[in-house]
Amino acid sequence: MVRDRRLVMSPPAALSDLLLAWYDRHARVLPWRARRGQTPDPYRVWLAEIMLQQTTVAAVGPYFRDFLAHWPTVEALAGSPLDDVLAAWAGLGYYARARNLHKCARLVVEAHDGSFPSTEAGLRALPGIGPYTAAAIAAIAFDRPAVVVDGNVERVMARLHAVAEPLPAAKPELRRLAAALAPLRRAGDYAQAVMDLGATICVPRQPRCMLCPWAGPCAARAAGAPERYPRRAPKKARPTRHGVAFLLTRRDGAIWLRRRPDNGLLGGMMEVPSTPWRVGEFNVAAARRAAPLALPWRELPGAVRHGFTHFALELKVWVARASRLPPADGAWYRREQIGALALPTLTKKLLAHATPAAD
Ligand code: ADE
Repeated sequence: MVRDRRLVMSPPAALSDLLLAWYDRHARVLPWRARRGQTPDPYRVWLAEIMLQQTTVAAVGPYFRDFLAHWPTVEALAGSPLDDVLAAWAGLGYYARARNLHKCARLVVEAHDGSFPSTEAGLRALPGIGPYTAAAIAAIAFDRPAVVVDGNVERVMARLHAVAEPLPAAKPELRRLAAALAPLRRAGDYAQAVMDLGATICVPRQPRCMLCPWAGPCAARAAGAPERYPRRAPKKARPTRHGVAFLLTRRDGAIWLRRRPDNGLLGGMMEVPSTPWRVGEFNVAAARRAAPLALPWRELPGAVRHGFTHFALELKVWVARASRLPPADGAWYRREQIGALALPTLTKKLLAHATPAAD
């Protein structure tokens, strides 16, 4: 097999050396990275990794700097009221992450004397740290030879080895391949080097193979079409769920929003209240019963559509002016306050759909 021959020509140590030499010249300058030769600060590494969960490097930068300016140490963060942390987090989304961040800071201070554990197992025992984040912190902050595998790393491995099996079934093999390459020395630099390669060179659509330190041994490139990897299983058709969103307005234009439960989809985020989302046409009488207040609701033309991973959503929007106090599980927000809230895209779409009518 071509694949095996190539790997014999390029043993793991040679491959990781090539990548590390590239990283020494081309590492991205990121606010949470230690400069060359400096010891990384585990607090900064942890803070960045939590912020980078489901958020882009570009979006995280200003938040990271702001957090560090307010709370330069884990003790400072742990000593701060949760509400201040949530307010500084606004805009990053997923408030459960901010709550866990604060809980984790307190635990590190109270149970670990202010020092983060240095092993993956120790890190995983902390709130908000799953297997990926534990591996990333162990490698980057403590130079432990942990195998760090995110979507970027999967893509790089799938291409380097021209893995024929599609995602997601290929995940265990991609992890094995990543583990086989990860060096024991400079583990943190190597983990960040693969991330950087995936983010800047081995990008999903037009990979820049001319600049890639692994272009020589890359099996997907040799096969002529690196962008075809990783293979993906054809997507299953997603069911469409339907429902009604209730846009309750007050005379001054304020809108009534409620907070979703902390767990589950869009956990802890503000939303326009709605009926449950169900497959099949919604029932008008059931929708009336689900409304936050019994009012003469008016249906807006059209609908709001939004794609979630496992289903598509189509919501009708009903509007009404409140004539009585709404239930206690939400609050009124004036237009200028809404601009400062961290809202999920679905909520933004609902507000945009209703804006002309709700005035
Ligand atoms: N994505 C997740 N962790 C990262 C890191 N430490 N550097 C760059 N991108 C990342």
